[in-house]
Amino acid sequence: MNTPVIRSQGAQLSRRTFLQHTARATVAAAIAAPFVSRGRVLGANDRIGVGFIGVGGRGRSHVNTVKKLGEAGAAVQIVAVCDAYGFRLDEIAQQLGVQSYRKHQELLADSRVDVVCVATPDRLHVPQAMDAIRAGKDVYCEKPMGHWSQFDRCRQFCAEAQQLGRVVQIGNQGNSSPAWGKVRDLVQQGAVGRLQHVQAGYYRYGDWGERMQIPDPHAKPGPELDWEAFLGDAPQVPFTVERFFSWRRYLDYAGGPCTDLFPHVFTPFVSALGLNFPSLAVASGGVFEFSTYDREVPDTFNMCVDYPEKASVNLVCTLSNDYVTEPAIRGDEGTLTLQNAGGWEGGFDSITVIPHKGERRIVPGLKTEATPLHWQNFLSCVRTRQKPVSDVEFGLKVQAALSMSMLAFLNRKVATFDTVKREILL
Ligand SMILES: NC(=O)c1ccc[n+]([C@@H]2O[C@H](COP(=O)([O-])OP(=O)(O)OC[C@H]3O[C@@H](n4cnc5c(N)ncnc54)[C@H](O)[C@@H]3O)[C@@H](O)[C@H]2O)c1
Repeated sequence: MNTPVIRSQGAQLSRRTFLQHTARATVAAAIAAPFVSRGRVLGANDRIGVGFIGVGGRGRSHVNTVKKLGEAGAAVQIVAVCDAYGFRLDEIAQQLGVQSYRKHQELLADSRVDVVCVATPDRLHVPQAMDAIRAGKDVYCEKPMGHWSQFDRCRQFCAEAQQLGRVVQIGNQGNSSPAWGKVRDLVQQGAVGRLQHVQAGYYRYGDWGERMQIPDPHAKPGPELDWEAFLGDAPQVPFTVERFFSWRRYLDYAGGPCTDLFPHVFTPFVSALGLNFPSLAVASGGVFEFSTYDREVPDTFNMCVDYPEKASVNLVCTLSNDYVTEPAIRGDEGTLTLQNAGGWEGGFDSITVIPHKGERRIVPGLKTEATPLHWQNFLSCVRTRQKPVSDVEFGLKVQAALSMSMLAFLNRKVATFDTVKREILL
């Protein structure tokens, strides 16, 4: 009999592997100290109550991940879901048999909710995550941490989360992929010498990512569709079904490859190479291929980010050609290249180590489904109060590079960073 496979976006994990990971997490949870959630003290064996804000494509995938973790024995329980689109919300609430809320503030007032998962459009992440930490919840916040225009709000969120001692995991799940630990080890052992240059990219043919499905072309704002809540702090424009359902096309709610795809490519480098806040960013690109419909975000995007340590990261993306070139990490004594890297979940098949002097060698990598690992890391930190792998300070460093690149691109300027004030300057 075939081993059943648990599927998520772009990767697979066998049920056995999932249970092995889960068993380790459950043991870790059992020995962990109790923690205080809003209104209740949780013991080591109490189940962590999870509420989901946004149950579209990614939110539902998180619901499945957490459900499977619970079924496999992890001390976690889905207690509530929230969405601004009533039909979607009712369907998932009925399936799960849990409480549903139309407004995220109502979900946050539910004392059974200990942690929330925010998987709404980019512009709502940081305002909803901020409300969550102020309500005493820990947060798994999808990437990007905020909309490209919201760096100041992200900085404020970071400061408050640290001050309040909340656990925040930014949803860059590739960061939990074990393969990147090998890159970090090799670089720390001097495989490239002094780090100088990183080159990577995201290549795809197709605009389906931005041209999202419109489930009801006749939908209108009303009791089942909260247009005001969708807009948040975005410009208050009239409703269209395209803006509500296909929001990735529009700069008011999204940024295109830079903020949607580069978090997957870029974040593990920031982590493995120990990069800090950038000093400078430039960017170019535009809508070069998919210009026949209402689309504002670029389909071609190139960004160069310099770091004060005198290292430069260059990322390129085209959505009109899926030919892949291998990521390379260059230093003054050698180069690392990564084979078959990419995808949403993270990892790669192998690392080729190419020293300036001496023999090249191949180190095996690993491609694995990282989202369950990212959740396990988050839930374990919720109990231990340790920092998760994509904690809020780390998330802010990534957000700085993404926001700087978008601002540089849109303004046709060089963006720099004031490390003391943590401000982007144009
Ligand atoms: N880490 C990953 O691999 C990954 C993959 C896909 C998406 N994402 C991220 O997840 C987020 C959601 O993407 P998606 O593809 O699921 O989009 P989606 O449109 O399918 O889902 C978003 C949901 O949020 C709901 N919503 C809108 N405004 C709301 C509000 N004020 N309160 C509550 N719900 C509201 C929408 O009705 C919708 O159901 C994006 O920011 C995206 O970057 C991450």
